[in-house]
Amino acid sequence: MAQQPFIVGNWKMNGTRPLLAEARAIDRGAGRRSGVRVALAPPFTLVMAMAEALGEVAVGGQDCHAAPSGAHTGDVSAPMLVDAGAQFVILGHSERRADHGETDEQVRAKADAAIEAGLSIIVCVGETEAQRDAGDAEGVVAAQLEGSLPAALPEGASELTVAYEPVWAIGTGRVPAVADVSAMHARIRQELVTRYGEAGADVAILYGGSVNAANAAELLAVPEVGGALVGGASLTADSFLAIVLAAGADQD
Ligand code: 13P
Repeated sequence: MAQQPFIVGNWKMNGTRPLLAEARAIDRGAGRRSGVRVALAPPFTLVMAMAEALGEVAVGGQDCHAAPSGAHTGDVSAPMLVDAGAQFVILGHSERRADHGETDEQVRAKADAAIEAGLSIIVCVGETEAQRDAGDAEGVVAAQLEGSLPAALPEGASELTVAYEPVWAIGTGRVPAVADVSAMHARIRQELVTRYGEAGADVAILYGGSVNAANAAELLAVPEVGGALVGGASLTADSFLAIVLAAGADQD
């Protein structure tokens, strides 16, 4: 991996204040290791407390609205996330695309709003099992990238991370064959370079979907896999730090 591996925990709709103890333990563990970037995306209700409690680990949101403020009951804007201490936001997760009908167009509008507010973004893409079985996986992901990514990266590659998360691998314990991960990440890289030129070569591309301590090293060794987006295994310090360690972090 050309750059430091980036390991991101997505807590999804999990966690109340007692779980901040795990986040603190993750922060301490990350602080004892160098050579890896670590981040956590808790539910909105914990963003501020977590951002105040952690020092090494970046804290982010799991979604934001495309507008900075207004009559959007229940939504949270990008400037609000910044105000709460967030440094990044996950956008276009397949659970939001499925549960809330989010379209590529909406994801792009959110991406533009988040970058405008000063957040870096993690844009998620991935095919369903039916799409893979039909031989469409790469085409589906390329179309999601085409529709969801911001037109430009004014501040460069560090503003954007892409997460490839096959829908059928999320929370199932199933992971794609290494060859399939490799082929998809190569395709994503090609799309990024076509779109952003030189900056596209430096955008981190994460793999997500049933990453755990046992399979992390193999997945992270795949060319163009720049890190992992981790769901279930990010909820405890033990399981998450094992993945951080597998990412090649040095331990003092
Ligand atoms: P799991 O690691 O629980 O499969 O979730 C992956 C994911 O959706 C992370 O965003």
